[in-house]
Amino acid sequence: MNEEWGPLAGLIGEWEGEGGVDHAFKHSAEVVFDTTYREKCTMKPFGPVDNGTQSLYGLDYKSAMWRDDEENPFHTEVGYWLWDAATGEVMKGFVVPRGIVVLAGTFTTADAKVFTLKAALGDSKYAIGENDYLAANASSTSYEVTITVGDGTFGYDQTTWLNMKEFAEPFPHTDHHSLTRVAE
Ligand code: HEM
Repeated sequence: MNEEWGPLAGLIGEWEGEGGVDHAFKHSAEVVFDTTYREKCTMKPFGPVDNGTQSLYGLDYKSAMWRDDEENPFHTEVGYWLWDAATGEVMKGFVVPRGIVVLAGTFTTADAKVFTLKAALGDSKYAIGENDYLAANASSTSYEVTITVGDGTFGYDQTTWLNMKEFAEPFPHTDHHSLTRVAE
């Protein structure tokens, strides 16, 4: 079923979870802090999209995260997941509304249940773009996410390495979560 989407087939649907953990520098308190969050995510299939001889199948992706009972999400992502069956290339292209865009990618197999995508600042293919302020103060130098697809569940484990003016060494900004499918 949904074999055109290869390893992305297991991500199709609407998802929710309550046990996300974010590790970041919290400016309001000037401390490194682990924030627990809940999340709602939708991934809607589309395709094919053809680039010349290349044929891609994708997922229209939206995700939002909240702390406790707050009304507005403190983090959101919108973008597309893409799969090229001919080459095994899988991509996650998304925007973080801090002024950051990412195209992360890798090569894997159609039946893969665990895969890791990467992007880096200045990479010629899988790159990160960021605004002028962030480039000077909190630059995202690399991004890596491992996806684990289960039966009605999926999880992510991701690290964004930041060059922050508050730290002499690169800072690992991490997020991990396991979500459950609540609708097809
Ligand atoms: C589940 C995903 C994510 C969550 C929940 C999250 C959450 C957060 C939080 C809570 C902060 C601290 C804000 C503060 O209190 O000052 C932060 C900062 C930041 N995040 Fe994320 N983040 C996520 C993913 C990402 C990704 C994928 C990137 C980039 C590719 C990113 C880039 C940044 C940057 C650059 C900052 C620092 C802003 C500054 O220092 O002024 N984040 N994030």
